[in-house]
Amino acid sequence: MKSSTRYRIIPALFALLACHSLSGENGYRLWLRYDTIHDTVVLQAYHSALKQIMVEGHSGTLNAVIEELQNGLSGMLGQEIPLVSETITEGTLLIGTPASSDRIAALPVKDLLRRTGNDGFIIKTCLVSGKKCIVITANEDLGLMYGTFHFLRFLQTRQQIADIDVVSVPSVQFRLLNHWDNLNRTVERGYAGCSLWDWLLLPDTVSPRYKDYARANASIGINGAVLTNVNADALVLTPQYLEKTAALAEVFRPYGIKVYLTARFSAPVEVGGLSTADPLDPQVIDWWQKKADEIYRQIPDFGGFLVKANSEGQPGPQNYGRTHAEGANMLARALAPHGGIVMWRAFVYDSNVPEDRAKQAYDEFKPLDGKFSSNVFIQVKNGPIDFQPREPFHPLFGSMPGTPLMMEFQLTQEYLGQGTHLVYLAPLFKECLQSDTYAKGKGSEVARIIDGTLENHTITGMAGVSNIGTDSDWCGHPFAQSNWYAFGRLSWDLSLTADTIAEEWLRMTFTNNETFVIPVKQMMMGSREYAVNYMTPLGLHHIMARDHHHGPGPWVSEGRPDWTSVYYHRADTAGVGFDRTASGSDALSQYFPEVKQQYENPDSCPETLLLWFHHLPWDYRMTTGRTLWEELCHRYYEGADSVKKMQQTWKSLEGLIDKERFEQVNAMLSIQLKEAGWWRDACVLYFQSFSHRPIPEELEKPARSLEYYRNIKEPTIPGI
Ligand code: GCU
Repeated sequence: MKSSTRYRIIPALFALLACHSLSGENGYRLWLRYDTIHDTVVLQAYHSALKQIMVEGHSGTLNAVIEELQNGLSGMLGQEIPLVSETITEGTLLIGTPASSDRIAALPVKDLLRRTGNDGFIIKTCLVSGKKCIVITANEDLGLMYGTFHFLRFLQTRQQIADIDVVSVPSVQFRLLNHWDNLNRTVERGYAGCSLWDWLLLPDTVSPRYKDYARANASIGINGAVLTNVNADALVLTPQYLEKTAALAEVFRPYGIKVYLTARFSAPVEVGGLSTADPLDPQVIDWWQKKADEIYRQIPDFGGFLVKANSEGQPGPQNYGRTHAEGANMLARALAPHGGIVMWRAFVYDSNVPEDRAKQAYDEFKPLDGKFSSNVFIQVKNGPIDFQPREPFHPLFGSMPGTPLMMEFQLTQEYLGQGTHLVYLAPLFKECLQSDTYAKGKGSEVARIIDGTLENHTITGMAGVSNIGTDSDWCGHPFAQSNWYAFGRLSWDLSLTADTIAEEWLRMTFTNNETFVIPVKQMMMGSREYAVNYMTPLGLHHIMARDHHHGPGPWVSEGRPDWTSVYYHRADTAGVGFDRTASGSDALSQYFPEVKQQYENPDSCPETLLLWFHHLPWDYRMTTGRTLWEELCHRYYEGADSVKKMQQTWKSLEGLIDKERFEQVNAMLSIQLKEAGWWRDACVLYFQSFSHRPIPEELEKPARSLEYYRNIKEPTIPGI
């Protein structure tokens, strides 16, 4: 987004208006607020370009387009913009496809539309019957919907529209939220209330919230929702639940959101009454085919299945001596006649403890490359362990050229402060997407595997583990909404920067006042690195508390070794870190030679990943000139100090936004500051018990003992 095409807003006026016009703000409207524009210059320009709306064609989606436009425009422009059907005048907003509108068919847009596919769109100032109009066109009505939301975003972020000229095509085809929601309405790793899906009341009562959920998703390009937890319950495949699912699908349909379900592999036994779920058993094959036919009778546009198999206790084909490919393909064959897909997760756990968990997915899936049906994705988490604050990219990216890989990011902040820390995740997403795998030489970034261009895949996809619940502001923390937003915007356009997305979101969610937007955007952009520093600096990982994962737990050592912290940090009196070079687990050999070469030498390994790949002595010399021990201490302190700075920045902005959200964020930042100090002190004291070195003099000493931190118990943390 070019700032040169944006109107400049007068800050003082804004501050005043913010205080007066926004009261009782609870964040429910997300980024679709459509508050009245008060700047007269902007308002006048928009009024002269938008005198009437003409939407040509008829469909549920077009009805939704009209409703959104009328809400959005009347809200922002302070008066109804008439919807007309006959006469084009100067300043008409004309919306339609060439098939639904002769006026649009007559415009020179055919060549452009050849590039926009089903979902893409064009927004352009054109002469229609000799009158200057803004046209939104696409090949399909859904494209018109995405174009409409994009256009509204232009107004919401105060961009000039007089000579608007946008062609937009999504980077990936399947842009999905994964809800880890259970049928009893608890949400695994959910920190924003209960599950939105009120299974008990469905299908008879359909909450108005479902439509708002669909609108929010459509506005950022999300086109699918897996409704249920990957730790699946076979009950959802029974007729009773399919009827409920169909009711949700009906609300989502006009907004282009397809529903998907998680398929528990043992469902034929658990709800089908069979004695086996062996994917090669004819009765099992028949059961799934009939189940797919039954689902599609109720939900003709059902999206497909997401499957977690042979992982963390979930059943799978390996229970019957079959491979992941045999399991996935059996389901894929049942869905294929209906156009459905299977998303088979690569997040697997062996029943035996591996020498290095980071290697497991690659070891199991790489040999299966090319063996999956054409409607199967392998869904891969961004890193090889588990959504840690920082991980290197997953070695499967680039290693399975014969199989479409779907990206899985986690929006819910399981390992990044859960419900209370302000952590903007787009920089994490971008870091992974921009990593060069070298699969086909330089320039083989993860993003090119996800968008299909590197390996010429026809299906492409990206999934985000949802952070949405029944809290009035949907995500619990006002800033957690930005991670939902960023996921959608990025899956639509992988080339967007984290900075651009943050700015859009802030302008739409809070205010266009740059006195607010600029410093808060800076806070957001730094926030992920701050969290890495106070939680897991220099490549440390998986050192959180057991089970609920809230707070530090570097001492966790009991139970299954690859669920402990000591397995990952390997601290001893000699040093710290996981040796993944040839002298250790050799996980590095799963990467392409250029990456391996860079990472295997501690001197060329990025310091941000040093202890991920190396076990180094406490006196190892860092580029700052400090020893590893001193550097570790400094990072922990810097992380916690950065939160203090965020808090100061935030406090200085009082009065620029509504009081409710200002105070809510302020309160959350106090919790974050306390918890950052907890992470810092607990980890520094713990690692000191191995390093036997003093905390550098210039740093304040922890007030409490290691014992104190080890004894903190939190039995009631939500999300399990
Ligand atoms: C993590 C998370 C689990 C989740 C799992 C998964 O381990 O803690 O709650 O089920 O990831 O992605 O399947």
